[in-house]
Amino acid sequence: MQLNFSTIEWRDGKIRILDQTLLPEKVIYKDIDTVQEIAEAINVLRVRGAPLIGAVAGYGVALSAQKAKNTKEIKDAITLLEQTRPTAYNLFSALNRMKKIVGAIHELPLLILQEAHRIKKEDKLLCEQIGKNGASLIPERAQILTHCNAGALATCGIGTALAPIYITKGRIKRVFVPETRPVLQGARLTAWELQQAKIPVTLICDSARGVVIKEVNLCIVGADRIARNGDTANKIGTYTLAILAKAHNVPFYVAAPSTTFDLSIESGEQIPIEFRNPDEVRKIGDCEIAPKDIDVFNPAFDVTPNEYITGFITENGIQTPPFQK
Ligand code: MRU
Repeated sequence: MQLNFSTIEWRDGKIRILDQTLLPEKVIYKDIDTVQEIAEAINVLRVRGAPLIGAVAGYGVALSAQKAKNTKEIKDAITLLEQTRPTAYNLFSALNRMKKIVGAIHELPLLILQEAHRIKKEDKLLCEQIGKNGASLIPERAQILTHCNAGALATCGIGTALAPIYITKGRIKRVFVPETRPVLQGARLTAWELQQAKIPVTLICDSARGVVIKEVNLCIVGADRIARNGDTANKIGTYTLAILAKAHNVPFYVAAPSTTFDLSIESGEQIPIEFRNPDEVRKIGDCEIAPKDIDVFNPAFDVTPNEYITGFITENGIQTPPFQK
């Protein structure tokens, strides 16, 4: 599967990201050479999606290692990156890999960069494998409902939830993509990347999912963090979709690599949920759609209890919980 964009590249000691806040209007790459800018890019969603956040954070540590005068500066960079977003486990699995290197040896800049390259390369392979394993679930003339963006834009490869769709392109009749308010990852990102790949895609309002669920063969979504019992944090609205799927006997799959599984926690109750700026709800882009000072509740993620999830499409096959440490 050939993609005509790249979410992250290491170029001459700088990180080049595709700025996803500007999509689909503008395809603009941004070169970044400080860890502070990387933290900002993760925080304001220039790069987003759990696997990509992990990979970018890895390169953020590599940036700081290039310039650092001592290991404390690298450790401070890791701390800064850990504070960018709380929910996606890939961020912490990537930074934990970096911590092990920083603690262990002296040849840091090169070793950290090599580890960042490994995280990126592994993620590409994980996506490919998820795609192959998920392919068995996709019937001929498939109609699929996803949520948010768990595609190529969210990873270093062909995505997680969208990977089986890319692999079985010829079998896909239609992918239904909910807008995904408040930040519109579905409308801006998933619709864009599927259109680029010439896969039939239909954009719907989040509130149309109750009608569309009757038309689809299955739902596939991504994940930000999965607990040992299978409870899964993903973009706000995923839980609602899972309930809808169960009510209509539609299979509901979560596609995610092992780097998203947090086996240190037993259940979804222990997953930290990010709350974001109220203006994301008061506005659409720069356009105000509500009274300026209206009270807002804006969790970025919800947790879907395991009983609503038919199976987990991972690099190791279609799995069900409990997941072992
Ligand atoms: O806030 P975002 O855009 O980072 O949220 C992204 C999601 O919820 C994705 O579904 C998840 O990270 C999986 S991406 C392969």
